[in-house]
Amino acid sequence: MARVKLLTPGPVEVPRRVLEAASKPVISHRCGEFRELLRRVTEGLMEVFGLSDGYVAVLAGSGTSAVDAMLWGFIGPGEKALIVAHGLFGERIAESLRARGAAAEVLTPREPGGVVDPEDVGRVLEGGGFKAVVLVHNETSMGVRYPWIRRVSEEAHESGALVLVDAVSSLAGDVFSMEEMGVDAAASCSHKAIAAPPGAGFVAVTSEAARLLRSDVPPSLSVKRYVEKYRATGETPFTPPVNTLYAVSAALERILVEYGLDKYIEMHRERAWRLYRGMPRGYRRVALSDETASVTVPAFWTPVPAGRVIAKALERGLRIAPGVGRYRERMVRIGVMGDISMDDIEELVEAAAEALEPG
Ligand SMILES: Cc1ncc(COP(=O)(O)O)c(C=O)c1O
Repeated sequence: MARVKLLTPGPVEVPRRVLEAASKPVISHRCGEFRELLRRVTEGLMEVFGLSDGYVAVLAGSGTSAVDAMLWGFIGPGEKALIVAHGLFGERIAESLRARGAAAEVLTPREPGGVVDPEDVGRVLEGGGFKAVVLVHNETSMGVRYPWIRRVSEEAHESGALVLVDAVSSLAGDVFSMEEMGVDAAASCSHKAIAAPPGAGFVAVTSEAARLLRSDVPPSLSVKRYVEKYRATGETPFTPPVNTLYAVSAALERILVEYGLDKYIEMHRERAWRLYRGMPRGYRRVALSDETASVTVPAFWTPVPAGRVIAKALERGLRIAPGVGRYRERMVRIGVMGDISMDDIEELVEAAAEALEPG
């Protein structure tokens, strides 16, 4: 049977060469060869995160574990954070913080597909007492990107709060730079726009923020331990996903050397906008404005049940995703990350048109 290609929000299609890199023999994480691999991965990731002075903790796990590690590393029991939440992943941040014993105040948009006005964030921050503002750069559950991180970070820093960003589905696919946006820490993983297999989570922290990392965290989530171990030995404190890291190293070389980061990001934008412009009449973009429309996971309200669109795409060998929660049957989400082509996008537009035909 022909393989189904992933146009899902992740994991994504991994280029053959990147997959092959993962099939090298497993090595010890306490040898020079591994230290060299981790150095390459860390330096490549710093470039992708837009961070020249800081660290990247490379953990075993998924995007969620990286986000949890970031949150727990900076926000402790009894402290308060402001979450700007545009969908499921924003809500999950609040869930993680409450499990931590921290208080999470959540700001949500007025309507689905909308975004929180940065002025509203500023107003809430004026009340004071927030340890951090936490944002999801690209809210994958709604196909919505947040274009005002820089504005929020200025307000946050003025009020004494840190800025922590879930960049799981934006890193390497959308314009993101911790330094230019004034972000203190950001989390992501191997299996979205970086286009490597699942298995590794990343938490990037500036050198200044690294000084604030907390110790009262379970060892596996302790960014502080990762940073200290890397600084002292060039290694990770615990067993890393060695083979995934081989793949991440190959994927980063593909992004930074073969494409160049700017061109690689632009490719995602072109794919996404082919969909925004080309989806048949009846499909409606979930994001309410051009500047908030995701360039990695476009989402559309569907005029027919989402299951029908998904089935038509599958007939053409393409897997896309439904909405989440109460929008499951009313929305489709299309990942444009990974090793896919513009022909795949065209094919998907045709499948979406076919789903509208009677019968
Ligand atoms: C914005 C965002 N945050 C967090 C996650 C969780 O990532 P994972 O499923 O790898 O744990 C996802 C996954 O889609 C995501 O899109």
